[in-house]
Amino acid sequence: MLTFLALASVVLLGIVPEQSQAIVIYTGWERHGLVGSDIRLSCSFFSWRWTSEDVTFSWTYRPDGSRDSISIFHYTSGVAYVDNKGPFRDRLEFVGNPGRRDGSILLKNLDFNDNGTFTCDAKNPPDIVGRPSSVRLLVFEKVPIQAGVITGAIIGVVLGLLVLIVVIYYLMRFLVARRVFSLSVSKHGKKKKEGSQQRQGPVPPAEPSKVKAAASEKKKQESRKDKK
Ligand SMILES: *[C@@H]1O[C@H](CO)[C@@H](O)[C@H](O)[C@H]1NC(C)=O
Repeated sequence: MLTFLALASVVLLGIVPEQSQAIVIYTGWERHGLVGSDIRLSCSFFSWRWTSEDVTFSWTYRPDGSRDSISIFHYTSGVAYVDNKGPFRDRLEFVGNPGRRDGSILLKNLDFNDNGTFTCDAKNPPDIVGRPSSVRLLVFEKVPIQAGVITGAIIGVVLGLLVLIVVIYYLMRFLVARRVFSLSVSKHGKKKKEGSQQRQGPVPPAEPSKVKAAASEKKKQESRKDKK
């Protein structure tokens, strides 16, 4: 029983002396930036222990097409060191918060040649074993062509649909208006005829031109009815 308690307390308090455990380091997977802009590359880690006073972060950079990585940043004992020779000597700023396990860096004024792989390693002594994590940086001159083409296609389709809807709308309005118009015309004509027959008993001799016109109108109406 006593041994069990002792063992349990050791396990619970996590005071297994000098035994290090693995930590897990996270960065993004891929980041895209535009020439001249700034970009934040984040790095954090997971560890079972409290964050150590001696937490360290280090970043290396491997340009695309190169085999060698160069160290560009190191944080240790509360001090941040930026490489003073490499491509990021004046363009790198530490924006992390080591107490919160954040080892992020800010790359400023991105250059077209900054394409490459950035690798972050972190240690939280005595947890010092972890696989460094890498993030790929792609720098674009403007909007990426692929994205531009896709965006253009989407805009084109949307505009096309809008035009189609407008055309259909006006076509429908035109057709409805024509039907209503023809209906009102035929009603109007009928009423006039009935009224004239009731009120005026003996129809006074109409002028020949008017009679002709009325006849032609009647013919027209009849031909329309036939068509329908
Ligand atoms: C960086 O990567 C982008 C995307 O793949 C590419 O368009 C650009 O040409 C690359 N820059 C250089 C200098 O290779």
